[in-house]
Parts: sequence; structure tokens; C-alpha cells
Amino acid sequence: MANLFDQTTINGMTLHNRLVRSATWEGMCDQDGRPTEKLINWYRDLAQGGIGLIISGYTFVSPEGKQMPGKMGIHRDDYAGDYINLTSAVHDAGGKIAVQLVHAGGQTDAKTAGQQPLAPSAVQVDQFPEMPAELTKNQINDIVTAFGEGGIYCVIEKKEREKAAKGKDADKDNRTG
Ligand SMILES: Cc1cc2nc3c(=O)[nH]c(=O)nc-3n(C[C@H](O)[C@H](O)[C@H](O)COP(=O)(O)O)c2cc1C
Repeated sequence: MANLFDQTTINGMTLHNRLVRSATWEGMCDQDGRPTEKLINWYRDLAQGGIGLIISGYTFVSPEGKQMPGKMGIHRDDYAGDYINLTSAVHDAGGKIAVQLVHAGGQTDAKTAGQQPLAPSAVQVDQFPEMPAELTKNQINDIVTAFGEGGIYCVIEKKEREKAAKGKDADKDNRTG
């Protein structure tokens, strides 16, 4: 029978054990959701501690989907480098990480979201005193696109880095060859 410390595979992703860190936001990003060095070190520590798979904390995909300051945002392409640094820190320590992509819907406030919160229906949510606006079809499409783009920025940045690294290797070969 398999035990917690046995290797396993989830949809092609091999984990060195079955320990999974549940999504837990840390409040270690800057005000706009950009990952900080402190957050990257936090995830590195988790991987070094032996967690097989880390689920990231809440990560909003578009600015009005932000729930609280300090939560991660993957809404800007210029943050891709920070996310590559974060995932590399985990991979270098032998771990794996999956991002929890989120939109707050009505579970936010205008000050944090930068506008009246947007939700599937104009229904006020407990603990969040403001009435959200009902999303239009176009706004729903924009959010769907934002869920896809969060990951795409990082893939593009990763490919760019790999290309740059290959270029450097080729230069080195040319110089030494
Ligand atoms: C400090 C803290 C932050 C959390 N952040 C998130 C989060 O970002 N996303 C999420 O889906 N759940 C979040 N959770 C819920 C946890 O992932 C987990 O589901 C909850 O603690 C219950 O875990 P348990 O069933 O092992 O007791 C958070 C919980 C805590 C205590």
C-alpha cells in the first residue's frame, strides 16, 4: 500500500511524496500583488521542508478581482519574471507548485478592487458591505481571458529566458570552439 512518502504522479506531474500544502495566502506581496523576496523565500522554505506539492495562496487574475492587499496578483505581464523566480526557487528545492487562480467577485470592496466590485449577480455578500454590480457578458469574457493570460505570461517569460540561456551557451561554444 502506498504511504505519504511514496512518489506519485498527477496528470503527468511527478511529486516526490504525497504531502500537499493547501492553498494558504500569506499577505507577503506588495500592495499591487507583486511577489516579494520574502514570499519567494517562504515558498522555498516550504519546498526545502519536504512538501511534494505546494498550492499557492489566492492569486487574483485581474485588478478588480483582488480581495485584500498583500494577496498575489498575476494580472500584469511584467510580473512574470517574479513568478518564474518563485517557481524556480521551489523547483530547485525539489518541490512542485500549482497556482490558485481566483477572482473575488463580490467578495471585495471598492477601495481594494479600484472600482465597484463585479459579481455574477448584484447580490451583497456577508462580510463585504458593498453591493456588487452584475457582470456584463463582455466583462465575463474579459475575466475568462484573464484566467488564461495569467499562466501565458509566465510561459512566454520562461521561453524567453530559455532562449537567452541557449544564446549564451552558443556564444560560449563559439568562443571556446
Ligand atoms: C491563514 C489561512 C489562509 C488561507 N488562504 C487560503 C487561500 O488563499 N485559498 C484557499 O482556497 N483557501 C485558503 N485557506 C483555507 C485552507 O487552504 C484550508 O482549506 C483550511 O485551512 C482548512 O484546512 P483543513 O481542512 O486541513 O483543516 C486559508 C486558511 C488559512 C488558515
